[in-house]
Amino acid sequence: MIIDEYLSTGFTDVDSASNRDVYFNCLVFLDSLPYFREYKHRSYELLRLGQGMTVLDAGCGLGDDVFRIAGRVMPGGRVVGIDSSVVMIEKARSNELSMRLPAEFRAGDIRELPFPDNSFSRCRIDRVLQHISRPEAAVSELARVLEPGGLLLAYDNDWGTFSVTSGDHETTRSLEKFWCDSFTNSWIGRDLCDLFISSGLSDVEIYPGTCVIRDFETADKVYNLRETVRRATAEGVISRDRGRSWIEELVDRTGKGSFLASLTAYTAVGQKNQKAV
Ligand SMILES: C[S@@+](CC[C@H](N)C(=O)[O-])C[C@H]1O[C@@H](n2cnc3c(N)ncnc32)[C@H](O)[C@@H]1O
Repeated sequence: MIIDEYLSTGFTDVDSASNRDVYFNCLVFLDSLPYFREYKHRSYELLRLGQGMTVLDAGCGLGDDVFRIAGRVMPGGRVVGIDSSVVMIEKARSNELSMRLPAEFRAGDIRELPFPDNSFSRCRIDRVLQHISRPEAAVSELARVLEPGGLLLAYDNDWGTFSVTSGDHETTRSLEKFWCDSFTNSWIGRDLCDLFISSGLSDVEIYPGTCVIRDFETADKVYNLRETVRRATAEGVISRDRGRSWIEELVDRTGKGSFLASLTAYTAVGQKNQKAV
């Protein structure tokens, strides 16, 4: 199947995509995977959420984290999700949980947040910085809207750690690099610590997490393997034959139980100083 959307680039501007369902379906699928459920659950714990808190989820997508966090800050709390994609925000608002939980959704760019200084007890940003230019502007805005003593948590991928097992090392290296380089900020995971410190946050802690996928079809949905081969072939990075054999080997490995794709991501948590940043 040839798709005309690429997950590494399309999240920058979902509203302009010819097939937005690719992005909706991707987020729904990722949210169903145990690895994602676990790191997201851990992120809520690391944020030390409590009743009555006001929380911002930046780049909230379909709002799944907003709804789960809303359940943790009730009663008296409030969660705001903001996303640059109007269609994502419409989807989130139309979720029936929107009516039942203290959740609000706004369309907007996280590099220019429409909130006054010191508005939130907690801010969270999950797999957004990898897609945007000027990620330092986003982190600095999140630090601005956080109240003194509040916590910011960011989770993001380090595509330099992406690896797929294959006997054809040369093709694998070329394809891993092709996919990695297609992101706006492919190494953002390892840069989170520096971004937090540069934004004036203190007590910055970094937690690694590695997502391991053991079957080709799941990895293809998460990492666009077939589409990467198609694009790399079209650009002359690998030959058509090499691309075809690479996919065949990975499918074969899945049948034998020896397929493995792996990616390390980092969670960063930092605190805004009691004196405003
Ligand atoms: C990979 S999705 C992650 C969504 C959500 N955080 C999650 O964990 O499911 C990235 C999201 O960031 C949004 N986004 C991209 N650029 C943005 C920007 N400049 N400001 C706000 N949101 C942005 C996209 O529309 C998309 O919903």
